[in-house]
Amino acid sequence: MIKGGVPLEFLEELCAKTDLVTVASRYLTLTHRGGNYWARCPFHNEKTASFTIKEDGQFYKCFGCGEAGNVINLVAKMENVDFLTAVEMLAKEANMPLPTDQESEEIKKQKQQRETMYAILKATTDFYHNNLLNNPNSPQGQYIKSRGLTSETIEKFKIGASLNYEGLINHLLQMNFKPADMVLAGVVGRGDHGLYDFYGGRVIFPIFNGFGDVVAFSGRSIEQSPEHTKYKNTSQTLIFNKSEILFGYNFVRELKKQRMLDSIVIVEGHIDVIMCHQAGITNVIGCMGTALTPLHAKKIKTLVDNVILCLDGDSAGANATYKAIDTLKEADLNVRVVRLTGAKDPDEYIKKFGKDKFVEFLENAIDCVDFVLQDSAKKYNLENNSDKNKYVKEALNYISKFTTPAEQEIYLQAVQQKVEIPIDALRNSLTRVKTNSAQKQIEQEGSEIIKDRYVLDGKITILAGILYNKIKNYEDFAGIFNTEDELSELYKFFVSKIKENKPINPSILFDNFKIEPNSAIDKVINYVFPADNVFETIVKDSSKRVKLYSLRTERDKLIQLMNSCLTDVDRYNYLAKIKQIDETINKEKV
Ligand code: UTP
Ligand code: MN
Repeated sequence: MIKGGVPLEFLEELCAKTDLVTVASRYLTLTHRGGNYWARCPFHNEKTASFTIKEDGQFYKCFGCGEAGNVINLVAKMENVDFLTAVEMLAKEANMPLPTDQESEEIKKQKQQRETMYAILKATTDFYHNNLLNNPNSPQGQYIKSRGLTSETIEKFKIGASLNYEGLINHLLQMNFKPADMVLAGVVGRGDHGLYDFYGGRVIFPIFNGFGDVVAFSGRSIEQSPEHTKYKNTSQTLIFNKSEILFGYNFVRELKKQRMLDSIVIVEGHIDVIMCHQAGITNVIGCMGTALTPLHAKKIKTLVDNVILCLDGDSAGANATYKAIDTLKEADLNVRVVRLTGAKDPDEYIKKFGKDKFVEFLENAIDCVDFVLQDSAKKYNLENNSDKNKYVKEALNYISKFTTPAEQEIYLQAVQQKVEIPIDALRNSLTRVKTNSAQKQIEQEGSEIIKDRYVLDGKITILAGILYNKIKNYEDFAGIFNTEDELSELYKFFVSKIKENKPINPSILFDNFKIEPNSAIDKVINYVFPADNVFETIVKDSSKRVKLYSLRTERDKLIQLMNSCLTDVDRYNYLAKIKQIDETINKEKV
């Protein structure tokens, strides 16, 4: 088996040779307490440490945000690199050359391809940037001056200029890059008349990844005419994933490293981010005009808990604000909102009213639920009963979606003041909204899940017992794990390891299974053991419960079959089997 192009045996050996605590202490301040190491979680903002490292199991888990993984996952997350790069970094340290079989030939090729792309993007950035520095009076240079960008800003963001359609190609050819690679990197287009600079004639804004490498470009047209697309962007490439990249992310990540980041301001445009930086407001990122995706939100959540949404003042910006609130709340972020008035975007606002006014304006951002309550009130005439009803429905829906019970009381009061309906009535309606949505969720998930919960708990207990070496007679449970689900997979995985005489350890699970926070496997790994004698009883009970459950399922199936039988003989046969099961059930029960 291979994962991310690397054989699993190699990963196991790598994890065994690498000490998680040593690696983690490079990124985190660890304290030793109660047999485990603790730190403040790097993946969410917190004041008390809930990030724990189990030295014997060689895995980490945060009780605050649920992130968990082994040493490879930690390095990938902390360094913001993909799985393979993290493996390479650790393998180098452990003096373990990556295996050179067929798979890794494939990896080598991919790696080379990526390296060439980065090199082309770097060369292109320098070329454009030097163009601008050497030709300040070019139309592109004049345009940048007219937008009020200082030379420090130009330097910081490596802003550049494409002066024509050929210069870049000649430059890259001279550097021995191949046209095919230039096209792959997204900087050169291939048209009827041959190759051309994809951003020809434009002002260039490089887009950086979290490390500060250029992965794409945005080219701003300096022509006024509508047939010129305002911004031309690199389309998806091997190293540029649009739904993940945020403009300015590299700078906020740096702030976070220096522990100087408490909240992030989200704006729409490149120029908005750049102008904020120029004004000294550096915790700003841009969504580059597209809707925020769950991936964006997740990335933001790894750095902060608090965001301020400051999208454009037009109606598109208003719609985008509502959508963004949903996406960001979904990622469990605290969201505050400002709506621009008097200027279309932050860039214009700062130019018109100055930096201090903008900072003041951001400081007055209001909580997103308050924002929705106020903003949607504007749509309705609250003197009119039918409108009032609609408003209450909309408001309660938002309140139930996004808030804790304590917060709900506060928001209900806000609604109450607007509609003058007794607060008890609103509270009752809110309970109904919640039950309705909970009901829907149960219908969607199916009530089977709830019925199975005890069985699931039992299986988790048994697997935890095997994983942590508290259950020796693992083979006795084979009958329980004959279903087709993840836990049975896990059981089979354990059995195969034990039979090969290999140690089983939580850290190897992260390479073999996809472990979501709070998933069944996550619960196995983080199982908290009671005293040994108590555990023994729990295992007995659990195993009984699971066995009874599968016997009853089997029995239900047989009854169904029996009821659809055509002959008495068949019916009799089924009956005999059912009786047999009943006997076993009765025996198990004692
Ligand atoms: P805006 O139209 O608000 O542009 O689009 P802007 O950033 O304010 O730029 P200026 O001040 O007019 O020069 C916001 C963002 O949407 C994306 C860009 O990322 C832009 O910064 N966009 C806009 C595109 O990608 N393509 C377009 O054609 C237009
Ligand atoms: Mn704008």
